[in-house]
Amino acid sequence: MKKSSLGKPAKNVKPARVLPVKKGTEAPVAGTEGEAPEIKGARRGAKTPATLRGMKDILPKEEVYWTLMRRTAENLARAYGYNYIETPIVEEAGLFLRTLGKGTDVVDKEMYIFEGDEGAKICLRPEPTASIARAFIIHGMHSWPQPVKVWTMGPMFRHDRPQAGRYRQFHQFGCEVLGERDPSIDAELIVMAYNYLRDLHIPVQVAMNSIGNLEDRERYIVELVGYLRGKRSYLSEESKKRLHRNPLRVLDSKEEQDRVVVEEAPQIIDWLSDASRQYFMKVLEYLDELEVPYVLQPTLVRGLDYYSDTVFELLADVPAEDPHAGLALGGGGRYDGLVEQLGGRPTPGAGFGIGLERTMLFLKRQAEQDPARFHDSVSPLFFAQLGEQARRRALYLIEQLRRVGIVVYHNVAKSSLKAQLELAHKYGVSHALILGQKEVQDGTIIIRDMDSGIQEIIDEKKVEVEVRKLLAKDRG
Ligand code: HAM
Repeated sequence: MKKSSLGKPAKNVKPARVLPVKKGTEAPVAGTEGEAPEIKGARRGAKTPATLRGMKDILPKEEVYWTLMRRTAENLARAYGYNYIETPIVEEAGLFLRTLGKGTDVVDKEMYIFEGDEGAKICLRPEPTASIARAFIIHGMHSWPQPVKVWTMGPMFRHDRPQAGRYRQFHQFGCEVLGERDPSIDAELIVMAYNYLRDLHIPVQVAMNSIGNLEDRERYIVELVGYLRGKRSYLSEESKKRLHRNPLRVLDSKEEQDRVVVEEAPQIIDWLSDASRQYFMKVLEYLDELEVPYVLQPTLVRGLDYYSDTVFELLADVPAEDPHAGLALGGGGRYDGLVEQLGGRPTPGAGFGIGLERTMLFLKRQAEQDPARFHDSVSPLFFAQLGEQARRRALYLIEQLRRVGIVVYHNVAKSSLKAQLELAHKYGVSHALILGQKEVQDGTIIIRDMDSGIQEIIDEKKVEVEVRKLLAKDRG
């Protein structure tokens, strides 16, 4: 059997659809189209491959944000009784083509599709919900205690036009509840998404709508298409196309000229069946009860086709002049037909996804205003040594400290004390432990306060106790 993998592109793996790549370049270049990327560390004239457009390295200076976002997600998920799930990044393309819907941007334009084994179409997942529904079926989760509540975190891929807060590889934190349909579940998910961003001190507005069941939607679409046809000449070119392919998407248009037409369009909420209307009212009542502020947004239909009834988004609540005003940090809703659509038993489901790069935009802003909250130094200590004997002892002592959970920065490859102390300054540590030939012979070690330069000699046996005192003082 032929084998292929994305990590090691095999000869027999051809892209099923050729994604736009600049002519004459092996790898697409970073930055804005037409702009030569500036590569700071490259030698003059040397060709260093850039990251692909819309893809980013996560650098050590961002570790503090990722750790915070992950820890907050873990704590929240645990508090609400969700268990972790992780599905593969590479999936059969049909999983998404079938469920997200023709006429949606993700399916029509943004999927990374490749040819896998024996011509099968495989893709990089654009979102996690369809994969989790697949996992629900193939692992027989219908026989687990219901509902099944899971959370996930990881990279997603959409070949969209990159701009601020929009990447081709991005990360989501998401929660899904499968196997039960009740307005209290929808409300709990909305509260969780809201609390996640509130815990991270990010002000958001919850936008709510209901798109009813399939029949409600079909009746509404007939009405909407009739209305939009009458206004066709006022619509943007993109919306004219959407009118045929997926008319609900016209409601999502960001074009100014469409907005006027959309404002006066019939509203889906008026076409809901009694059951869907009552269900939605209950969700709103629970949100009132839980004191989650929301606004009703009749044009909110979401960009994926698997939704039914409740849909919601979490929008950045910042002044209108802010470049990120109204940016969607997260979104979700109910998808009662998804599991069945994938060949499973009828199983209701609901969930949300939060974009972590967008969340990080706001965390970085907070860090500018309050750097202390994001102090990311792993260790307030540096271990410096001088001379071969001291280097050996230093390696031993660093290992002993590590075993009891104390991390120290060091570079034992360096022999100059000056160079090591310069490094300690660059790390911004508060104290350095210094070990020379004399200290090794005396069984002592020096602790240096990096700000004042004051040094103290201590018994080497007391190093752990003394270091713990310093750590406790540093934590305030
Ligand atoms: P979505 O609205 O497509 O929903 O994505 C959720 C969030 O991911 C968005 O609100 C946004 O913050 C972030 N996001 C989406 N595309 C990009 C991008 N190109 N660059 C950066 N961030 C992006 C879903 O994916 C659904 N699976 C959510 C869900 C879960 N519904 C039910 N369960």
